[in-house]
Amino acid sequence: MVSVDFSREYLDQWAEDRLSLPRENAEKVAALRESMSSQLNRPYNRRWWRNAVRLPVFSTDDFGIRDGVVCFGEDLSPDPGEKRVLRGALEDLKSWRKGPFSYAGIEVDAEWRSDIKWRRVMELANPDIRGCRVADVGCNNLYYMYRMLEHDPSLVIGCEPVERYFFYYYLNRKFYRDRRLAFELFGVDDLALYGPFFDLVFFMGVLYHRRHPLMALENLAAAMQPGAHLVIETAGIPGGDESCLFPGKRYMKAPGWWFLPTVKALKNMLERSGFEKVRIHEAFSMTHTEQRKTEWVDTQSLESFLDPEDPGRTVEGYPAPLRIYASAYRRL
Ligand SMILES: C[S@@+](CC[C@H](N)C(=O)[O-])C[C@H]1O[C@@H](n2cnc3c(N)ncnc32)[C@H](O)[C@@H]1O
Repeated sequence: MVSVDFSREYLDQWAEDRLSLPRENAEKVAALRESMSSQLNRPYNRRWWRNAVRLPVFSTDDFGIRDGVVCFGEDLSPDPGEKRVLRGALEDLKSWRKGPFSYAGIEVDAEWRSDIKWRRVMELANPDIRGCRVADVGCNNLYYMYRMLEHDPSLVIGCEPVERYFFYYYLNRKFYRDRRLAFELFGVDDLALYGPFFDLVFFMGVLYHRRHPLMALENLAAAMQPGAHLVIETAGIPGGDESCLFPGKRYMKAPGWWFLPTVKALKNMLERSGFEKVRIHEAFSMTHTEQRKTEWVDTQSLESFLDPEDPGRTVEGYPAPLRIYASAYRRL
């Protein structure tokens, strides 16, 4: 039985008009929110919240960053019962893809060292976050959104069409609430409903998972102010030509990989979807330092996806992915 109305928790974030969208956009956004919200209370989501709902609200301001770890409840000493329920709540949310996090002293070493990606993004793309209206599209468990707070945005909206990720937000808010953060159960293709709104968009780790990548980029462009900055990170393939790999049924053992561009193809895709001043910052091979199996991950990780004899190839024999970091600006 649902003891918390998660639909209400989600909608209440938006009770006060924080966006001041034009009326037509505001109505469409509100209608989509309303229909998405009803999914949160569905019984299949119980696995994500069954322990979290038993936790008290510990504090609303206990948050900090320590050596790249997003820490909640550093100043707390929960009693043994609360600590047991907290550990249960964290285990309910396995597999932890992004991190690291720490909750009242329990360290969650996620599959991805997202602190490494964040450091690269800040060094390479150097986005100016201060005072901006920011979207983190495909925000997963919100790791980067908490990192953005250090740079004083006016608003950061995390977009995730996957209900599960709302429950990480729900858990985090037992420790920390910040009016600059909000969660939207929208996918990239829904964002155009906002109209030109965002000053800065992070679109990391999503493009190659989209069946229609150009449509995704066009919808992002529609959600951005002219001149707004897009920071994009995507998987791609090596090569000096203008092509994309379109794998067969699986790539790295998963079916959700569609178009993997070379850096030149990525530049072309951006330029043909409403962006200009495209800069490819870097393309890196993935390492086992950055993506690996930990005790917080129940599935396989990078070491099982690459050919053990040739780490330059996936187990299917395709070129192993590069991670491409790029910037572009919404065309004026
Ligand atoms: C590989 S993860 C990347 C997470 C994070 N942005 C990062 O770079 O580490 C892809 C994320 O995109 C989310 N996603 C799935 N469909 C999406 C959509 N239509 N629009 C936006 N995000 C989506 C997934 O739920 C997942 O959290």
